[in-house]
Amino acid sequence: LVADAVALAALAPLAPALAAWLEAALRFLALVMAGWLLVPGDTRATVVTAAVLSLSPAAFLALRAALALPGAAPVLLATSSPAWPLLAHGVAALALLTWRALQHEAPAHGDHDGSPKARATLRRLLDLMRPEWPRLCGAFAFLALAVVSETMVPYCTGRVIDLLSDGFSAEGFKSAIILMGLASVGRALFTGCRGGFFIWVRARLNARVCDRLFCHLLRQEVAFFQQVKAGDLASRLATDVPLMNDVVPYNSNVFLRSLLEALALLAFMGRLSWRLTLLALFEVPLTMAIRKIYEARHQALLKAILEATARAGTVVHEAVAAIETVQGYGAEDDEVERYAQALDETRRLKERRDLERHLFELCRRALQVTVQALMLYCAHQHIAEGVLTAGSLISFILYQGKLSIAVQGLVFAYGNALSHVGAARKVFEYLDREPAVAMDGTLAPATLRGHVAFQNVTFAYPTRPEEPVLQDVSFELRPGEVTALAGLNGSGKSTCVALLERFYEPQAGAVLLDGVPLRDYEHQYLHRQVALVAQEPVLFSGSIRDNIAYGLEGCSEAQVEAAARAAGAWGFIRALERGLDTDVGEKGGQLSAGQKQQVAIARALLRRPTVLILDEATSALDGDGELALQRAVLDGGARTVLLIAHRRRALESADRVVVLQGGTVAETGTPAELLARGGHYARLVQG
Ligand SMILES: Nc1ncnc2c1ncn2[C@@H]1O[C@H](COP(=O)(O)OP(=O)(O)O)[C@@H](O)[C@H]1O
Ligand SMILES: [Mg+2]
Repeated sequence: LVADAVALAALAPLAPALAAWLEAALRFLALVMAGWLLVPGDTRATVVTAAVLSLSPAAFLALRAALALPGAAPVLLATSSPAWPLLAHGVAALALLTWRALQHEAPAHGDHDGSPKARATLRRLLDLMRPEWPRLCGAFAFLALAVVSETMVPYCTGRVIDLLSDGFSAEGFKSAIILMGLASVGRALFTGCRGGFFIWVRARLNARVCDRLFCHLLRQEVAFFQQVKAGDLASRLATDVPLMNDVVPYNSNVFLRSLLEALALLAFMGRLSWRLTLLALFEVPLTMAIRKIYEARHQALLKAILEATARAGTVVHEAVAAIETVQGYGAEDDEVERYAQALDETRRLKERRDLERHLFELCRRALQVTVQALMLYCAHQHIAEGVLTAGSLISFILYQGKLSIAVQGLVFAYGNALSHVGAARKVFEYLDREPAVAMDGTLAPATLRGHVAFQNVTFAYPTRPEEPVLQDVSFELRPGEVTALAGLNGSGKSTCVALLERFYEPQAGAVLLDGVPLRDYEHQYLHRQVALVAQEPVLFSGSIRDNIAYGLEGCSEAQVEAAARAAGAWGFIRALERGLDTDVGEKGGQLSAGQKQQVAIARALLRRPTVLILDEATSALDGDGELALQRAVLDGGARTVLLIAHRRRALESADRVVVLQGGTVAETGTPAELLARGGHYARLVQG
């Protein structure tokens, strides 16, 4: 009220157009001060509320003045009858409340709204684009040309219409038509070139990021892969990387194009009629407000849909991957039910998304039509006054349509960039991840004896850190000897192997190779020297030859054959029609379990490792095959062999036996000694 009184006194003699805005400024200051005194905390909300309350009456009065609507309206709110301030503030308050309610309902979406984090990610994305700048410059040059040609077209159209309606001159008509033709062709040509450049940039960027990400992922420690799903990683590569690489080229394309267009259009429109231009601009903040609400809701929905789709995908993936289990337990109906549920959820969310999109379009259109109607009304007066020609009006209307598209483009590009940096953030998260088991060893001695020592090793898996699997385990593997590791299932045998392969780091103690901790050895070197045939060997789809020579380059046919012979695989390979070139199928599914093991053993032998680990690698072989294999392996040279087996015959062929029980070493000695002692080992082989 005080502000109103001051306004009344000070502003009454001023020019009406300015007075309303000065009044708004005064009112704004008074409201901010009042808000600040009443609610000291939330400054942002106070400022927004004050701005809406004070600016909306002035904006409304200005609009009325521009339209020259019939009927008396007050120049100042302060001098008007009480109904006016009441109405103005009431409507503004209602609008604010609606806005709050809608915003509140839209769940807060982390990345949206230009949070600092999103902006930081956007900056990193721009960094990533740096090598592409020559191509981007090309793209932007074509973009500018395309915009210039584009804005020429409506201008020419208006001129043609004016020429047709009065004062027809063949010369002027011809030049207008030629200009129009040139502008159209130029537009098509430059737009195409612009698009081509952007696609080029995107493709290069994609290849670069995918490469880097995959390379980085493969260097992560094994535990990492047990915690994230394979499908997650694959989708990172297949969907998030392209999405993230779209953010900068696509949105900068849209943004710059829209910006240039909007500026050029505004310049043209302003020349035709500034009053109409001001009117047309009224649409912008309102559309932006509606879009802001819509975007926040839309992003939340999109995220939910993505999650639901992923759930449906997981059901299919799991059911197909484990089809034997599904059929074996007759659980087909359960799987179908689970799938139907997941699909139903997706459908519901998509329906909501579509409904909201249509509602949004409806509101936007209504707004557009209203502004257009007002404009036409105003233009009608202009034409009657003779300030505007019919042709200019047509140009203007054509421009206005384009302007609203350009402004939408501006808003869209910004929102889209911020909402898609989510994808980029996930990718960066992986790119930034430091492997917990570093691969920075450098040691690669020319000769290695192959002496392995576990020294007081204590270890728990990272997924279950409070459950130690190995406790104070110490034993050694001597060069030229076969050491067997025996123990019940779950006693920690395979865990020892994983530590020896350096898939994990022990929490206490150390694993030494020739007296040096494993982590000091160079990664490639270590894995050429220490070869593992795992309990469940994994083959890759491809030929048997590819599988045996996996990870080694330049192996001769003879070497592969020798390794296959030593592993006892040559018999079955020779019998195959295509021999070594036979395809093993996905995960080696076209071979029997025993054959798979033989191929895996051949793969290990081909490397002529110093330390060979056979983790129940002979379990699927028949007795004779197993014995023949062991003979071949043991005769193969002065290797250190760690053998994990259950059968008595296999254990007895070892030089020494280490018996594990519950994650600790229970006994060590030669098989004969241990048998004679009648302890754990004796119970194991006899029981
Ligand atoms: N990746 C893993 N994450 C968590 N616990 C594991 C993992 N692998 C094995 N374990 C647990 O460690 C213990 C020892 O397993 P393992 O070394 O495979 O036994 P085995 O002697 O039969 O080879 C078991 O209790 C098992 O449940
Ligand atoms: Mg095991």
